[in-house]
Amino acid sequence: EESKLALITRFIRQFPDFPSKGIVFRDICPIMKHPAALTAVMDLFEKHVRETQPLVDLIVGIDARGFLFGPLLAQRLGVGFVMVRKKGKLPGPTVSVAYTLEYGTAEAEIQEDSVSPGQKVVLIDDLLATGGTLFAACELMKKRGAEILGCLVVVELNDLSGREKLKPHAVFSLIQY
Ligand code: PRP
Ligand code: HPA
Repeated sequence: EESKLALITRFIRQFPDFPSKGIVFRDICPIMKHPAALTAVMDLFEKHVRETQPLVDLIVGIDARGFLFGPLLAQRLGVGFVMVRKKGKLPGPTVSVAYTLEYGTAEAEIQEDSVSPGQKVVLIDDLLATGGTLFAACELMKKRGAEILGCLVVVELNDLSGREKLKPHAVFSLIQY
């Protein structure tokens, strides 16, 4: 596990003052360019979910970078994948919620029939900052009566206390800054 984490860490970059002054942006794009690093990410996520949440019904990914990891994990686990999208992108009846994040505000949306009451879901994104985005996604799941088993992220920014905001839901992160 240590060597997998070390490998992943080598492929996360930082950009000071992006997208605005004072923000240190952690960039996971290099992971996507290095198959061994991406495999390490997926191995660790798969192991965690198999060990702690074997009854999961659906993986729920957050627009946009949750879509990079979510479907790969869902395939490994043999379960379905659902998109939480930025507002206005999904056809048919939808449920939406407004939220704030580290550098702005937005609105998130799911298709009404994407999750059924009682389904057990695990949410996934690339990064946890303030937790505003994953909190909003959890709100959408609750509106549909889903049972939230926990959240997965590659990177957690400790200083922004997203983990606190998401309580009582569990957060599993691979790398912390
Ligand atoms: C980023 C990141 C998370 C969220 C984290 O996405 O991928 O989804 O912000 O911030 P928070 O914990 O403070 O809510 P962003 O909204 O920039 O959208 P993108 O994935 O479409 O680039
Ligand atoms: N990197 C990527 N996404 C983000 C960040 C970051 O540092 N902060 C909030 N969303």
